[in-house]
Amino acid sequence: EKGGWDSYMDKEIHEEPLAVSDTLLGRFSVDGDLNLDEVRIDEDVFRSIDKIVVIACGSASYAGLVAKYAIEHWVRIPVEIELAHEFRYRDPILTPRTLVVAISQSGETMDTLMALRHAREQGSRVLAICNTQGSTIPRESDAVLYTHAGPEIAVASTKAFVAQIVAAYLLGLYLAQVKGTMYRDEIRQIVDNLKAMPEKIQWVLDNQADVIAQTADRMAKAHSFLFLGRHVGYPVAMEGALKLKEIAYTFSEGFAAGELKHGPIALVDEGEPVVVIVPSPRGRDVLHNKVISSIEEVKARGAFTIAVAEVGDPDVEHYADVIFWRPECSTLLSPLTDVVPLQLFAMDMAKLKHYDIDKPRNLAKSVTVE
Ligand code: F6R
Repeated sequence: EKGGWDSYMDKEIHEEPLAVSDTLLGRFSVDGDLNLDEVRIDEDVFRSIDKIVVIACGSASYAGLVAKYAIEHWVRIPVEIELAHEFRYRDPILTPRTLVVAISQSGETMDTLMALRHAREQGSRVLAICNTQGSTIPRESDAVLYTHAGPEIAVASTKAFVAQIVAAYLLGLYLAQVKGTMYRDEIRQIVDNLKAMPEKIQWVLDNQADVIAQTADRMAKAHSFLFLGRHVGYPVAMEGALKLKEIAYTFSEGFAAGELKHGPIALVDEGEPVVVIVPSPRGRDVLHNKVISSIEEVKARGAFTIAVAEVGDPDVEHYADVIFWRPECSTLLSPLTDVVPLQLFAMDMAKLKHYDIDKPRNLAKSVTVE
């Protein structure tokens, strides 16, 4: 049932183009308006939403953090991300105008479920972004947007993660539509760009697997990895680090590139592998240039630098020892392609070590205890 793949994880990474296109499918009416799956919330209530609080754990929380950048930009309301287990045990500020978004692949994560119940007790509306039809989290929510990634068997989340980003983006565009914070044409443009992402993910799968596998070979003995990113590249860095911890049992940490000089650069020593998510070079804007200088800084201290960068980036080649390329796309959509080489890299590292890729030690697919 692995369809010829070595592992479910391998199969599921290769299903990402489909997970993205299926999550986009059937969301639009003939006039181009966006629809949610199950909504027990009035459009007027959506219009009145003045804050979003995302509750989730692990990878799902990183998908939420990616979406924060997009939704704040599109809808102009604050988006907070909170780990569900932290949210639950403090006194969060929620009002009837707060939309709580629970993101969960399984729909059964106890931490997220408890946080959801807590939010509803405070009178907030909860919208679930979930991959499992009929599971507890969507059943207890006021509205649901399903990710159509298909069943995810491998413990490490891959295709569900990209589908979560797509669904959260659709929610953002839906809010922009009902609140009128964007022109219809702008929304359509972004939807069209989203529809082009499966092909771009496919390009990465078809063209970068070899360099990724060779890099894993070279790095097989590394004891730790640092992952750096800015803006949406920051949660992607954390997700890349999480994959490596989970299945290759390798210590790795993802952090915001701007934090380097506030501490983490002290970790950089001769040969330390540092993976850097480089934003699009178009216009060589501040974001791009700052990340390029972060590569320079760690390189100057002896780091072995691995960059994830856009094809044709004229600067990255001067500083990176290895580059995983991705096709051109807007910064906000780039996490959908940039996470792919990091997933493959973690998988290749785990393969080299002969670890059980689909069932890493100490972990369960769905964490049904608090
Ligand atoms: C990472 C991973 C976990 C889950 C987290 C939430 O690869 O699988 O971090 O993302 O346990 O699980 P769900 O999405 O089922 O609530």
